[in-house]
Amino acid sequence: MSVGSILILPGDGIGPEVMAQVRRIIDWYGEKRGLDFDVSEDLVGGAAYDKYGVPLADETMDKAQQVDAVLLGAVGGPQYDVLDFSLKPERGLLRLRKEMDLYSNLRPAQCFDALADFSSLKPEIISGLDIMIVRELTGGVYFGEPRGIFGEGDARYGINTQRYTVPEIERVARSAFELARKRDGRVCSMEKGNVMESGLLWREIVQKVHDEEYPDVELSHMYADAGGMQLVRAPKQFDVIVTDNLFGDLLSDVAAMLTGSLGMLPSASLGAPMENGRPKAMYEPVHGSAPDIAGQGKANPIACILSFSMALRYSFDLGTEADRLDAAIEKVLADGLRTADLLGQDGVQPVSTAEMGDAILAALDASL
Ligand code: NAD
Ligand code: IPM
Ligand code: MN
Repeated sequence: MSVGSILILPGDGIGPEVMAQVRRIIDWYGEKRGLDFDVSEDLVGGAAYDKYGVPLADETMDKAQQVDAVLLGAVGGPQYDVLDFSLKPERGLLRLRKEMDLYSNLRPAQCFDALADFSSLKPEIISGLDIMIVRELTGGVYFGEPRGIFGEGDARYGINTQRYTVPEIERVARSAFELARKRDGRVCSMEKGNVMESGLLWREIVQKVHDEEYPDVELSHMYADAGGMQLVRAPKQFDVIVTDNLFGDLLSDVAAMLTGSLGMLPSASLGAPMENGRPKAMYEPVHGSAPDIAGQGKANPIACILSFSMALRYSFDLGTEADRLDAAIEKVLADGLRTADLLGQDGVQPVSTAEMGDAILAALDASL
């Protein structure tokens, strides 16, 4: 019997390269654990533009709405820079997030022990790090109206609008508090209420949801710029961070680098429950299409594989199997295997994307 349905959208650049390793892992779960997924594949981003003339075809959007989980690689590439804004690869990704209403974007930043030396920060600041950034994903300045470039010549001006409604803030706040209850019980909310009214409202509503529904969770507030500074100064002070779409984009890249490489960081984007009780969901690595290394077999597939692990956990209620996959990755890193992005020590030869996949599969076999 099928465990559930997955739509794979490999996308552009290193997207298909890292996703190929995820497919092998999905097949492993079918063969070795009797967990069969009903997998289909389609195009997004530049790949979809090349074939259909749009970064996400309507048929693909419909499919994404039907499945239990979407797995996305990455989108974008310099060859698409000339396209009209509405046709850019990134619009395909943003359409998926918006139309599936994936308002809560979970971006964990965890330091694997084996990589503590690799961070640009001192090992003692980073070892044991385990933060969850909850980024609001369907509102704010990414989607607010009015937006656009107006006027003529030198008198042109660009507008984007930061807009948050009370229900938008409430639902992402609840998602952060729920997560905190299963973790260390602490939430830090970040905005810039000192200069932005939307931030003032954000702080008020997060506090209200806390006081009325989650008084057992410890809540603090920080201005987002100070939050960025604290993330680099003493990241272990944080458990769950909840913040808006744009600040969450920036802060999660900072957090990614704390752990060593963008190639390590997964994410889950979750919406409301569907009829079968599972949340609408899309899983993707935090990194992009890495045009500088695409096609060379150098990409680190771990962020994408960890994104599948999050799918096992959050969409398919297979937490034990997710733990198994996380442990396999931890073992391979502890054994010293490194893709090129994780090299620092002299004399260590990097492994390719596929070799990293081989090693993780071998570690999975050894776990049986
Ligand atoms: P990027 O994440 O693609 O790359 C930044 C740097 O990190 C590069 O040096 C790259 O080689 C390295 N890197 C990233 N992932 C890696 C991996 N798995 N293994 C090894 N090294 C890795 O960000 P960018 O260069 O700013 O953006 C490139 C394109 O990707 C742009 O078109 C951008 O819009 C797009 N993008 C897409 C997503 C997404 O699809 N979710 C996210 C970010 C950027
Ligand atoms: C991310 C990316 C996207 C974003 C882009 C590619 C639209 O940077 O997922 O972090 O800004 O949200
Ligand atoms: Mn980003």
